[in-house]
Amino acid sequence: MFPTTTLLCTLFLTSAAFGRPKTWEKRASSNFRGTCDQIAKAVSDASQVFFPPSTQYLSDIFHFAPSSTQESACSVEPGTAEDVSKILRILGSTRTPFAVKGGGHSTNLGFSSTKGVQIALARFNDTNVNSDDGTVEVGPGLTWDQVYTTLNSTGVNVVGGRVPGVGVAGFTLGGGYSYKSSQYGLAIDNVASYELVLPNGTITTVTSHDKDLWFGLRGGLNNFGVVTKFVLKSHPQAQIWAGLIFYTGTQLDAIKEAYAKFQQANDTKASLLISLVYSSGQFTIFLFAFYDAPTPPPGLFDGFLAIPSTQNTVSTRSFSDFVESLNSLAASGAQRSLYSGIPATRYSPAIFDALKNMTVFWGTRLEALDKNASVVTSLEPFDSTLLSHGTPSAYPPDRSQVVFPGIVSFQWYNASLDATMARALRQNTDEARAAVLADGQDVSHAATYVNYALFDTPLKDMYGANVPRLRKLRAEIDPEDVMGLAGGFKF
Ligand SMILES: Cc1cc2nc3c(=O)[nH]c(=O)nc-3n(C[C@H](O)[C@H](O)[C@H](O)COP(=O)(O)OP(=O)(O)OC[C@H]3O[C@@H](n4cnc5c(N)ncnc54)[C@H](O)[C@@H]3O)c2cc1C
Ligand SMILES: *[C@@H]1O[C@H](CO)[C@@H](O)[C@H](O)[C@H]1NC(C)=O
Ligand SMILES: *[C@@H]1O[C@H](CO)[C@@H](O)[C@H](O)[C@H]1NC(C)=O
Ligand SMILES: *[C@@H]1O[C@H](CO)[C@@H](O)[C@H](O)[C@H]1NC(C)=O
Ligand SMILES: *[C@@H]1O[C@H](CO)[C@@H](O)[C@H](O)[C@H]1NC(C)=O
Ligand SMILES: *[C@@H]1O[C@H](CO)[C@@H](O)[C@H](O)[C@H]1NC(C)=O
Ligand SMILES: *[C@@H]1O[C@H](CO)[C@@H](O)[C@H](O)[C@H]1NC(C)=O
Ligand SMILES: *[C@@H]1O[C@H](CO)[C@@H](O)[C@H](O)[C@H]1NC(C)=O
Repeated sequence: MFPTTTLLCTLFLTSAAFGRPKTWEKRASSNFRGTCDQIAKAVSDASQVFFPPSTQYLSDIFHFAPSSTQESACSVEPGTAEDVSKILRILGSTRTPFAVKGGGHSTNLGFSSTKGVQIALARFNDTNVNSDDGTVEVGPGLTWDQVYTTLNSTGVNVVGGRVPGVGVAGFTLGGGYSYKSSQYGLAIDNVASYELVLPNGTITTVTSHDKDLWFGLRGGLNNFGVVTKFVLKSHPQAQIWAGLIFYTGTQLDAIKEAYAKFQQANDTKASLLISLVYSSGQFTIFLFAFYDAPTPPPGLFDGFLAIPSTQNTVSTRSFSDFVESLNSLAASGAQRSLYSGIPATRYSPAIFDALKNMTVFWGTRLEALDKNASVVTSLEPFDSTLLSHGTPSAYPPDRSQVVFPGIVSFQWYNASLDATMARALRQNTDEARAAVLADGQDVSHAATYVNYALFDTPLKDMYGANVPRLRKLRAEIDPEDVMGLAGGFKF
């Protein structure tokens, strides 16, 4: 076993690859006060600028993980697309760094946080059902659980996030893997149109007729402007069968066998997420079991249900009630966190074993640095037809084979450990990639999921052969590099 000091030495050797701040990030936030005042004067009564330490300011900069929160000079809550347009023009002309926040669930520092001007979209919070054309209009300030609550009694639903707190905006701009994705595809495969404020302030509607922007917005995050409305395709929704099942770590072999049988059924109404957990000195397992009907077909989940569990919350209920029941998994506000994607095309028994070993290996080491640290490795299988529901998009670059997105996440409390955790997670991620290759999987086409990717992930690992097309599009749409003032992966 490696002592902690060995771990730290190894980590520091690789530190050169990480986080060189851009020069403007070093400017003191007080320098941006003038821009805040300019915005406050320009916007309509529907919008408002807030300063620290007001409660609105604190809620505007709040993130799922405090490790991705930054203290901006001010925050602005635009209330109309016209005001977003004015704000972008001011930010562009003053070259002020800014961030756009939907649900604030990105764990990458600076992706939706800034020391400059924080744009919080909270006021875009409408959910409107259009029963005539089977769509639902959703505001980018909403979280998915809010949308589900509104839709609860309507008999329809949309393809969205799996746990409370996740934002509609970032989720849908990056791809969006849902309980319903084996049935209907990714969230981006269920968008009818976008209302978009372009980097130069022009307000436009983007549909499948807009060949290039339609392609770019589906997976391209904040590269092409700020989305002020999503129009989503809806699907009928009856009661569902779902819950969490917790097991001791000793049941891993039984879980592997149950999974092998489960995935052979190819039932697209079923969804499964298997988490391998190291926390408080223990390795445990839990899974999300979901079926999009009041009862699953006989046999489908029997393998999992037959394994002795320590807790089982599965029941028949409304979709919204199920998601609300997962509230304990939402932000605690104290736990620092980083996510990293580990794509695979199948989960063989060898992959389960390798990921279990890594979870315990890194969990043990993290715990030596912060006794409350934990590692959660999630396997996210989908049906082999997952990517057949949509047309070419920025992500995933190759729809010819299914990509299981998968995550390793680190959780900790000590803020002094942020850089160490990032380096450790990069090593863990690279080891997981090597294990997938060693399993004989052709991962050259299995892109890392944009919304799970660690901040240092190269563009080609997420967007593959699409990178040149996306670069060209961004140069066309944003010649002044306004969106370059906001953090995140940039083409
Ligand atoms: C607990 C948890 C559970 C998750 N579960 C899932 C899951 O089941 N499936 C899945 O696919 N992903 C999941 N994710 C990942 C999730 O998709 C990303 O974290 C995503 O960024 C969340 O969107 P957000 O609006 O909350 O993020 P934010 O942090 O607010 O934004 C993320 C990115 O989107 C940009 N952005 C936000 N709003 C806009 C806008 N209106 N216009 C332009 N750009 C914008 C931001 O600038 C930033 O770059 C989960 C993450 C967490 C932490
Ligand atoms: C939307 O925001 C407004 C103003 O911020 C608030 O009054 C309203 O309750 C919110 N609606 C929802 C559905 O959250
Ligand atoms: C959702 O609808 C169900 C009935 O289908 C109801 O029992 C439940 O209370 C509703 N939940 C919410 C959060 O409104
Ligand atoms: C499930 O899908 C796989 C891959 O497409 C296929 O090989 C297998 O025969 C299918 N099984 C059933 C029971 O349809
Ligand atoms: C996992 O670790 C155990 C013991 O620590 C070892 O025997 C086994 O070969 C490892 N498996 C993989 C797949 O790395
Ligand atoms: C850390 O764990 C200890 C027990 O091991 C617990 O008492 C303490 O509250 C935890 N701290 C946090 C911040 O969760
Ligand atoms: C946090 O981590 C730093 C760096 O390892 C360490 O020096 C410090 O003692 C830790 N703080 C706590 C409260 O454990
Ligand atoms: C804004 O950008 C769009 C997209 O590149 C372009 O079509 C439009 O002409 C631009 N508007 C102005 C006022 O420059």
